[in-house]
Amino acid sequence: MTATGTPLLEIRGVSKLFGSVIALQDITTSVGAAAVTCVLGDNGAGKSTLIKIFAGVHRHDAGEFLLQGEPVSFASPREALDAGIATVYQDLAVVKLMPVWRNFFLGSELRRGRGPLARLDTDAMRKIAKAELLAMGIDLRDIDQPIGTLSGGERQCVAIARAVYFGAKVLILDEPTAALGVKQAGVVLKYVIQARERGLGVVFITHNPHHAYPVGDRFMLLKRGRSLGDFAKGEITRDELTAMMAGGAELEALSHELEAGGGAAAAAAQELEAEVHELGIPAAAPAGDGAAAGGRHAVGPRGGSSAGDGRP
Ligand SMILES: Nc1ncnc2c1ncn2[C@@H]1O[C@H](COP(=O)(O)OP(=O)(O)O)[C@@H](O)[C@H]1O
Ligand SMILES: [Mg+2]
Repeated sequence: MTATGTPLLEIRGVSKLFGSVIALQDITTSVGAAAVTCVLGDNGAGKSTLIKIFAGVHRHDAGEFLLQGEPVSFASPREALDAGIATVYQDLAVVKLMPVWRNFFLGSELRRGRGPLARLDTDAMRKIAKAELLAMGIDLRDIDQPIGTLSGGERQCVAIARAVYFGAKVLILDEPTAALGVKQAGVVLKYVIQARERGLGVVFITHNPHHAYPVGDRFMLLKRGRSLGDFAKGEITRDELTAMMAGGAELEALSHELEAGGGAAAAAAQELEAEVHELGIPAAAPAGDGAAAGGRHAVGPRGGSSAGDGRP
């Protein structure tokens, strides 16, 4: 939140259609300054579509999109960037053979002189890139090394440091930890926290509640374009978040399927059912009828959760 209590970025009842496909329906959430909003959901949930609206790639078809309380509708990614919204996509747009500092300044190169005589100010760019990465705790041996020689996690970190340097207010990360091992994911999560400490509002997309919960201040769950709920950290435990992500409906459908098989399959089905029960997964919309039900589908996380879920 800003000093006035207005979120940096807010959407209310936002929908997006691609022809007859409802990619998003009636989505509401907010991103505060110095806070991390996590958007969770399986493949096809609409996560990328949501951040593409934030990033100026798509325009929403319905609802409101507010930046610091003012309605916006970006005509291009450049407009979103100029408004302080920086997006780091999963398939990072880096030029692998170019040095780290060159990638840091890609598209925003520093120049000396004016007009046709302007030249790239390589010394300044080297120095700044090195200092900025160091300030984020990234100590590269050689700022001239090709960015392709960095690990996936390190590349994500360079992209985050770059967004911070160029003055982003909102930093959007599309599944930055998806392709990473545990250790590297941990490193990226550390920089998510750094960005928050620098006062940025961070939108962190992931399908992993174990990555989201430790760094998130707010959690929005998407399923087939609908919101399963939007919770502040104090309103949901990690177990509840995990249970909602596990998807009660899916597990139940799976157990019915197995049950029909009889024998060992039926035994497995009973185990699954017990697990659904134990996790306290609230009954979700029946699997398969997607957008048919209409209206916002809010499922509370409080549907009889298991005892002893450790609240922070
Ligand atoms: N440009 C597009 N044209 C048509 N359909 C799209 C487009 N982008 C996304 N979709 C559809 O919208 C839904 C949500 O996709 P997406 O936002 O990519 O989900 P996620 O990132 O959560 O995996 C999917 O059904 C997908 O096929
Ligand atoms: Mg995606």
